[in-house]
Amino acid sequence: MPTEKLDGRIASAAIRGEIAVKAQTLKERLGRPPHLAAVLVGNDGASRTYVESKVKACESVGFRSTLIRKPAETTEAELLELVHALNNDTALDGFIVQLPLPKHIDADRITLAIDPRKDVDGFHPVNVGNMVLGLPGFLPATPAGIVELLRHYGVATSGKHCVVVGRSNIVGTPMSILMSRNSEPGNCTVTLAHSRTRDLAAVTRQADILIVALGKPEFITADMVKEGAVVVDVGIHRVDDATRKSGFRLLGDVNADEVGPKCSAISPVPGGVGPMTITSLLLNTLKAAERSL
Ligand code: GUN
Repeated sequence: MPTEKLDGRIASAAIRGEIAVKAQTLKERLGRPPHLAAVLVGNDGASRTYVESKVKACESVGFRSTLIRKPAETTEAELLELVHALNNDTALDGFIVQLPLPKHIDADRITLAIDPRKDVDGFHPVNVGNMVLGLPGFLPATPAGIVELLRHYGVATSGKHCVVVGRSNIVGTPMSILMSRNSEPGNCTVTLAHSRTRDLAAVTRQADILIVALGKPEFITADMVKEGAVVVDVGIHRVDDATRKSGFRLLGDVNADEVGPKCSAISPVPGGVGPMTITSLLLNTLKAAERSL
């Protein structure tokens, strides 16, 4: 059987088409389009690329978007003041503060200051708590996007063993919760593996569904994957490549050349999880706008 590509661009295009239709209806009812703001502090190249893609995606579905750029020297107090202003801005449905923040700013303090009703990243403890309890709220974009990717490709999950590698607050931990929920996709037996896991390869080889978000280029090799597994690669790394016109190429956390042929399905890097993350953010913004009706 050939390996199926879990193409996030194709799945996103389908979902974004539906979002655009709903955005149009909302625009008529609200008297304005759904509106997302993104705050970018400092000059990190990768963060700038991500935020610009988010803003561009908003335009592609008929949302309004506002990019707020602040210098790296912005103080925590100034950023908190901005967050409060955005919380109170009724012309805005939701906003995100792009991470990572400069070291002198406590990211947890910023996240806590965001009104949970505008927290379209789903990072505020209220939204995290709602996710854990299965209550309505905003789901974190990357894990929710992966769930939508699995749904789009009809990947069977019920009763399967899902191994998640990486326990970050943004991806691994919420991913493990979403995959274990009594829902479809979901109903997996979940193992959350991390840097202290003993004999990681023995654990990942048990996975029917392997979701990798540990942030190391090409860390997962063929010997760590079971024949026929479904592999989702969350990593994205820029590595120098003099043979490319751009001077770099993008790699995931999975060695795709090696692992790809062994899998029943795999998400590519780029064009897998990345577009789905942005699509989830659009879905959350739409939900926020629907709530402001
Ligand atoms: N940095 C990496 N991923 C994300 C994300 O989903 N949201 C925000 N705000 N920052 C990030």
